[in-house]
Amino acid sequence: MITIDQPSAMQAWSDAEHRRGRSVGLVPTMGFLHDGHLSLVEIARGRCDACVVSIFVNPLQFGAGEDLDRYPRDEAGDRAKLEAAGVDVLYMPAADAMYPDGFQTAVTVAEVTRGLCGDGRPTHFQGVTTVVAKLFNAVRPEVAVFGEKDYQQLATVRRMARDLDFGIDVVGGPIVRDADGLAMSSRNAYLSADERSAARVLSRSLAQARTVCADGERDAATLLSRVRAMVSAEPLVRLEYASVVDASTLRPVERVQSDALLALAAQVGKTRLIDNTLLTAA
Ligand code: PAF
Repeated sequence: MITIDQPSAMQAWSDAEHRRGRSVGLVPTMGFLHDGHLSLVEIARGRCDACVVSIFVNPLQFGAGEDLDRYPRDEAGDRAKLEAAGVDVLYMPAADAMYPDGFQTAVTVAEVTRGLCGDGRPTHFQGVTTVVAKLFNAVRPEVAVFGEKDYQQLATVRRMARDLDFGIDVVGGPIVRDADGLAMSSRNAYLSADERSAARVLSRSLAQARTVCADGERDAATLLSRVRAMVSAEPLVRLEYASVVDASTLRPVERVQSDALLALAAQVGKTRLIDNTLLTAA
């Protein structure tokens, strides 16, 4: 695995791969890698000849008072995991290579960024699309893989890639969960033992809603009231939102008729966690 830290060097490497007829897959990350990230690497490696993983803690996507300053980092551990996973390039641009003096451009996706996490984090998705557009332009991949845990992010990046003709296949990787059901996230490292145990209620409430829906309950309000009741019984967990939305438009639905997404965000102590599940009417 080689490390590249400048966009121009990244483009040159990728262009050389393309000249040799090799396709390039990208997994964008902010580091502190876990098995969820490595599952995305597997997908990229399965679809492309070469695999690039980017690590960049993107200041633009953190709001005031969020965890930019304490975001967990482990460069040596990440390198070892990526080497073992067979990654070809670690793309790790410095902040001034990504956002040099005078930088003043932003990429905005209008509709799918509204609601869900967009309500509580109004500047977040613009930060994500701006950095992902830059990563796409530096790496020039055929395929880019994003986790379905950040479902709204995946939908937003898909929309951006289509709207701006990036010609990149944006692929979603299934949520990877720890044995206790908690969706893997770098932010789980913030949780105390008690918070971690309390946070399990999130995946439990989603699993319950999925079962109730499969048993015939299609009313979104009823499904959501069951989720809220279950989560509110856990004093360490404060639900920020729980919504049932159309899985492609992310607009709220009243009934689960075709594919719908039940998504939630919650504060567990000082840590904000998100999770989701697809609900099918079939
Ligand atoms: O999901 C993440 O880790 C980040 O939002 C991403 C896609 C790497 C952009 O900074």
